Amino acid sequence: MDFSYAHNDTSRPERLSRTANLNKLTISPLLEGIRKSAFERSIPVSSDETLQFLLVQARAINAKTILEVGTAIGASGIALLQALPQARLITIEKNKDFLREAEQNFAKAGVEDRVTLFEGDAAEILPSLEMDCDLIFLDGPKVQYVKWLPHLKRLLKAGGVILADDILMYGWVNGEEPVPPKRRMLVEHIKEYIAAVQSDGGLLTYIADIGNGMAVSVKTDEC
Ligand SMILES: C[S@@+](CC[C@H](N)C(=O)[O-])C[C@H]1O[C@@H](n2cnc3c(N)ncnc32)[C@H](O)[C@@H]1O
Repeated sequence: MDFSYAHNDTSRPERLSRTANLNKLTISPLLEGIRKSAFERSIPVSSDETLQFLLVQARAINAKTILEVGTAIGASGIALLQALPQARLITIEKNKDFLREAEQNFAKAGVEDRVTLFEGDAAEILPSLEMDCDLIFLDGPKVQYVKWLPHLKRLLKAGGVILADDILMYGWVNGEEPVPPKRRMLVEHIKEYIAAVQSDGGLLTYIADIGNGMAVSVKTDEC
């Protein structure tokens, strides 16, 4: 089975941030096994540093309702649900094989009662969702982030946080590295997302040099 993923270049190592070696991921042995198996098969799951940052953010706001775009095989979802025993996860994945495996992994982790899995393209599912969530982990196709922003804002509580992953894309977005020609459109769309969250009066945003870059946006009012 080909698990190559168009928006993550799995052959290209993430540039390590200056704090990567100091941060330590705290997850269960079961989840360590799930992530090891994902890495061995080049299934794109969050790096240690990204995952630890996600867990700290989720705990800091004591997230109860979490929306994730990009379940893959459930690694980040399980990490969140194990770190936050009161939380519920709504997660969207369009790859059927990943989704089946995610379902099995959620069950193995004993968190399946707290998960709602949506199979399909988030572009079609997001407009139909109604919820007030505390945290959105945006970990799907980066090219769509800016298009989805109005829905993400609608679904987020005031005080809630959007974590948009892979926002620096190997240094292509901040100009550190030349953009490969076939990635220009992707980089333009990511820049548009950054500009949109930064110019939005209802969001307060920090671009963090974590993993492949993370945009952290807090919803400041009922916009
Ligand atoms: C980086 S992976 C998610 C990793 C996961 N959050 C983790 O850290 O364990 C991104 C996932 O988004 C899924 N995806 C890509 N485009 C999508 C779309 N339009 N709608 C829903 N899922 C999508 C891919 O199939 C892939 O599994």
